[in-house]
Amino acid sequence: MRQRLAVGNWKMHGSLPENQVLLSKIVAAAGSLSRALAVVCVPFPFLAQAQSLLAGSKVAWGAQNVSQYPKGAFTGEVSAGMLREQGCRYVIVGHSERRQMFGEDDVTVALKAQAVLAEKMVPIICVGETLPQRDQGVTEEVVGRQLGVVADRLGEEGLRASVLAYEPVWAIGTGKTATPAQAQAVHACLRSLLASRSNSVAAAMPILYGGSVKASNAPELFDMPDVDGGLIGGAALIAEEFIAICRAANG
Ligand code: PGA
Repeated sequence: MRQRLAVGNWKMHGSLPENQVLLSKIVAAAGSLSRALAVVCVPFPFLAQAQSLLAGSKVAWGAQNVSQYPKGAFTGEVSAGMLREQGCRYVIVGHSERRQMFGEDDVTVALKAQAVLAEKMVPIICVGETLPQRDQGVTEEVVGRQLGVVADRLGEEGLRASVLAYEPVWAIGTGKTATPAQAQAVHACLRSLLASRSNSVAAAMPILYGGSVKASNAPELFDMPDVDGGLIGGAALIAEEFIAICRAANG
């Protein structure tokens, strides 16, 4: 059975006192999750706080970005080794905000995923089309290319240790969620592309949906056969919403 996940992507939000309240509520609720894993991907400066509050709990933590380089003169960058030392288990790579606003291309995303794997953490590799691309009918082509470049570099072994997230760009932070059928169609396409490389990887890899997931729409999305949980932005900052989404992922 595939791992079910509810991953909070806090983006550039939070403060030490707010995080303390949010994390303690999530920890209290996570005790009853039998099947899904709750993960919070926090800004770098909050990783130490996440480590101290979450160590020994059922909640895992991670980062939202990483350098593709292991060390060196890269001002402002953070290496995968540094993240591992902070206890991270997951690192989001290739989020559309990084692709669009910080110029990350498919090869950079692949190199970042490799850097994460080299430190024995799990990359959450994001793919997704823009609204014009969906309107042009090239969604599957776009996500296929994004996945293909990463898959070529990671190989079967790397893919086996990774998580995929389908995040239609038009649904992120817009309140417009893909319908369960739209999400399922792209997830099934991604899984069949994985199967063309390895059936066992395709069967085992969690594929998360992201884009305006809320407590109210999570159950129907996570009910789809190829949707294994969610990558949650705005709703991950509200304890009651995120906890309800974790429960929906738990099934
Ligand atoms: P959203 O963000 O849930 O606020 O739409 C999702 C994401 O960007 O991962």
